[in-house]
Amino acid sequence: SKSINLAVLGLGTVGTGVVHLLNDNARELARRSGYEIKITHVGTRRDRSDIDPAIKQSADLMAIAEADDVDIVIEVIGGTTVAKDVILHAIRHKKHVVTANKALLAKHGNEIFALAEEYGVQVRYEAAVAGGIPIIKIIREALAANKIDWLAGIINGTGNFIMSEMQQKNRKFGDVLAEAQALGYAEANPTFDVEGIDAAHKLALLASIAFGIPIQFDKVYCEGITKVSLQDVVYAKELGYNIKHLGFAFRRENGFELRVHPTLIPDSKLLANVNGVKNAVMVDAHPLGQSLYYGDGAGAGATASAVMADVMDLIYVIAAATPSDVPHLAFVPEALSDTRI
Ligand code: HSE
Repeated sequence: SKSINLAVLGLGTVGTGVVHLLNDNARELARRSGYEIKITHVGTRRDRSDIDPAIKQSADLMAIAEADDVDIVIEVIGGTTVAKDVILHAIRHKKHVVTANKALLAKHGNEIFALAEEYGVQVRYEAAVAGGIPIIKIIREALAANKIDWLAGIINGTGNFIMSEMQQKNRKFGDVLAEAQALGYAEANPTFDVEGIDAAHKLALLASIAFGIPIQFDKVYCEGITKVSLQDVVYAKELGYNIKHLGFAFRRENGFELRVHPTLIPDSKLLANVNGVKNAVMVDAHPLGQSLYYGDGAGAGATASAVMADVMDLIYVIAAATPSDVPHLAFVPEALSDTRI
């Protein structure tokens, strides 16, 4: 049968989530794609005894990124140094890349995408924005025919978890942040979450696809939630408002305006009631009008779901070279030898 080989670089929260997702769902993914999907390599600094011994483990990420038995490189190392080198190396060896690395793409995405175009491969990043919500696919595909006037949303799960626990349970900022870290929601450097930087990274990526402009992270006005006190939250509640950390991208007369900051929202509004690790993005588009997307914004399962959705998409891209291999949009029983449910 046809197969696709993956390399997972990095075995933190997300990388481990991807390994678990494939363990759990491999049969389902084969049924839906027509391809056997396996991980042939993992890139890890320390050998991991919990990984299937059939998977090769190594700390030599560059060697993995160019290995013959790798079709798609999944970069979930994080950071903007090693991750960048290894992605560029994979592209130069004609591998498709899937990454969850918003910090890297916000800074170096224009360069990375240009190189990918030169080498005829794709770099996919659904997992980089809003965790499990397929917001990149929504904007790029579902809303492809619309002119987008603005989008606004809660795009950092850790920050929203902190704000809603403060609001609903009067808990202290530091306690909730520690819990978000334990749950695998926070960035390795949680300053990125609480200072709004992670949201600004994501907003720069969303604006670039929504408006068809280069990624311009430097232009995002950025304010986090560290100056919001429990008292602010309590007073806001008394006045009928919730405080949420929002990202906004507006089309303006002479350009675009991008900003992230805490915002008072009347508690009758949907966005005011998005709590915990959930994210939500509202898009105002023409001719569709407003639409709202909601789901888990962080965590191993949500992020792995988005990473593997990109892998599935790339399988379609790879299969398109042989049109008869492209998976059908609808269930075609005779095409399958094993249709047991
Ligand atoms: N630290 C990020 C968040 C992870 O809390 O939203 C998902 O991008």
